[in-house]
Parts: sequence; C-alpha cells; structure tokens
Amino acid sequence: MTLLDDHVVLITGSGSGLGLGIARHFQQEGAQLALLEYDDDKVRTLRDEFGDDVVVVHGDVRSLDDLERCRDEIVARFGRLTAVVGAQGIWDGNVRLRDIPADRVDSLLDEVFAVNVKGYALTARVFLDLLDAEQGALVLTCSQAAFAADGGGIAYTASKGAVRSLVNQLSFELAPRIRVNAVAPTGIANSQLRGPAALDLQDSKQSDIPADAFRQQFEWLAPMQHMPSPEEYGPLYAFLASRQNTIMTGQTVLADQGSLNRALISMGDLLTTMPRA
Ligand SMILES: NC(=O)c1ccc[n+]([C@@H]2O[C@H](COP(=O)([O-])OP(=O)(O)OC[C@H]3O[C@@H](n4cnc5c(N)ncnc54)[C@H](O)[C@@H]3O)[C@@H](O)[C@H]2O)c1
Repeated sequence: MTLLDDHVVLITGSGSGLGLGIARHFQQEGAQLALLEYDDDKVRTLRDEFGDDVVVVHGDVRSLDDLERCRDEIVARFGRLTAVVGAQGIWDGNVRLRDIPADRVDSLLDEVFAVNVKGYALTARVFLDLLDAEQGALVLTCSQAAFAADGGGIAYTASKGAVRSLVNQLSFELAPRIRVNAVAPTGIANSQLRGPAALDLQDSKQSDIPADAFRQQFEWLAPMQHMPSPEEYGPLYAFLASRQNTIMTGQTVLADQGSLNRALISMGDLLTTMPRA
C-alpha cells in the first residue's frame, strides 16, 4: 500500500520542472494521473514518458473550454478525481518597477496574473464538483516570494501573494469537504520558468540566471545548503493531496530550505564566504 493508492490526481503545468517532478513522484506513490500542459513539445515528451496509463491533455489553464475538455477526459477515463495539484506559473523576469515602461505595467500584470492566479481560480471552479464528490484536495503552488521581497518583481510577487489569499478563501468556502493548501517553494533545480511576453522576455527563463552561480548563492544562504530537485518536493505535495491529510486546510507551507529563518547576527562572518558569480 502506497500513499496515493486509489487516488486520481490532475496536475496542471506538468510539462517540466516542479509539475513534472510531482507527476513522477505521484506515479511512484500509486496515483492514477491526468496531466494538463500547454506547450506542444512538452505534451509530446509527457506522452512518450508516461504512455497510455496517464491522461495527457494539451490545454491552457486560462481557457474554460480546455479545462472542461480535460474534465470530460478525466471522467471518461477514471470516473472520478480525488485531487488537483496546480503547478503552472510564469515569472516576471525580476524587472524592477522603475525599469518597466509605464505603458507595459498593465499588460505585464494581466499576463502574469492570468496564469499564476486566474488559472488556479478557474481550475478550482471547473473541478470542484468532482473534488467535492470524493472529499478531495486542492494543492496550489505559491512561492517564497509571497513571504518576502526579492523573489521576483512586482507582478510575480503580487501574484504569489494572491495565491496565498486564494488558499485562505477557498479553504474556507470549500470546507468541510475539500481541503485546500499550497506549497511555497524557494529554489527548484531544473526549472524552465519562463518570462513574460509583456516585457519581451517570453524566450528567457529564470534558469538563464547562471545556474551554477544561483545554486551556489542559494546553498550559501539557505541553512539546509541544498537546492532541491522537483522530485524532492513530491512527498510534501503527495501528503497534502492524499487522504492522509486529515489535519490541515488553508495553509501555505513554506518549503524554503530555512532561508527566511535567519537573523543578522552571523551575517558578517557569512559574507566573507559568499560565492561570487
Ligand atoms: N523555479 C523556482 O525557483 C520556483 C520557486 C518558487 C515557486 N515556483 C513556482 O513553481 C511552479 C512551477 O514552476 P517551475 O519552476 O517548475 O517552472 P516550469 O516552467 O519548469 O514549469 C511550469 C509548467 O507550467 C506550464 N504552463 C505555463 N503556463 C501554462 C498555462 N497557461 N497552461 C498550462 N500550462 C502552463 C509550462 O509550460 C511548464 O511546463 C510555478 O508556479 C512557479 O511560480 C518556482
């Protein structure tokens, strides 16, 4: 018996990074899976990797039609759904407000919020009756950026703050039948998180920040000294998505390698060891 035996889980944004790692872990834990992804190439690689046992849906979380088609495919194949994990997101390139042309602020916020916030709200709406029928779980993806500055620019950090509030409100509205929680990661190795078209950064990725330098700095700052892989986040998501979680709703769990849990006393000594790019 494994943690997710008898569970049917939809993971949105599962073509790379966190969502893909969660999918691999959930399959090992015995879950039946549906995967929603909007990138053509990633849809193909998902079908190659997971084969016919998994329902792979080519769709966009911003589209009601796509989500309803995904729902139809899940009902046709499995007849039920016990959890939805939201893992999609886009970044904002970490551009400071001062450096964003004034006439692009509006489109930047619309673009980032459409994927990072509205995509989760719409998904929750489309699947809530299936989750309700199974007394299921909704697990969203927040970020350390919802807890402290400098995890991105205004659009990304505000969108992740909104995810945290969405969890508060949805958990209240959907109790007692549906548990709603989120995980707030910090660093994720092998992420392909892309930038916004509103700033012409759609072809740039967060990982374009020199990967080794970023990892070294993160591991220097974080007390646990380790940049987790997507798969390492799997067990935390699995618990929150499982029936074993009878104790938590409305929580956003900060999974930050301890990086926010430090004061300044030892900073002077630490700075002398800081890795340089
Ligand atoms: N990378 C990090 O360091 C980090 C840190 C904290 C939080 N996060 C969050 O983790 C989540 C996953 O990020 P990641 O780093 O794995 O990035 P990623 O780009 O590797 O994975 C996100 C996936 O979502 C897909 N996607 C994007 N928009 C979509 C849409 N409209 N419809 C369907 N699929 C869509 C992408 O194609 C991609 O496959 C995001 O919510 C991100 O904000 C990432």
